[in-house]
Amino acid sequence: MLMRSFFIMTLPLVLAACTDADSASSSGEKAVRDGASLYQQYCVVCHSSGAGGAPIVAKENRLHWSHEVEEEGFDAIVREAINGVNAMPPRGGCVDCSDEEIRATVIHMLQLSGAK
Ligand code: HEC
Repeated sequence: MLMRSFFIMTLPLVLAACTDADSASSSGEKAVRDGASLYQQYCVVCHSSGAGGAPIVAKENRLHWSHEVEEEGFDAIVREAINGVNAMPPRGGCVDCSDEEIRATVIHMLQLSGAK
């Protein structure tokens, strides 16, 4: 019982250590990660399935995304991705993502959706 809760408590630390090692090994201090890999790592969980009401990123949902861009504007969408909105967590849960990286990830999402 004691061992079990110890494991559960340390698991997030172990996982965090892994991601740190990954980003550190991938070059330079402030390497900007590309939108495609950040999307796969942080956003796809919700945005491919629609979990929690997340708008699905896919060509079938092109009209939704086109509409968002048209109505709100690209910058406003990026701002919402950074600050979070309703069930959308700030930065999609990527706490160490820079604004620039979130922007690149949103561009990738719009490209995947074929939005204009
Ligand atoms: C925990 C699930 C979850 C994760 C992870 C997540 N999202 Fe979202 N996202 C949502 C939900 C839910 C909404 C819809 C929010 C609303 O409008 O009510 C949303 C909406 C958005 C929107 C549209 C904002 C708008 O203007 O309506 C963008 C852009 C977005 N997410 C980007 C991202 C990016 C980039 C990532 C990864 C870095 C990400 N999301 C990760 C759940 C998630």
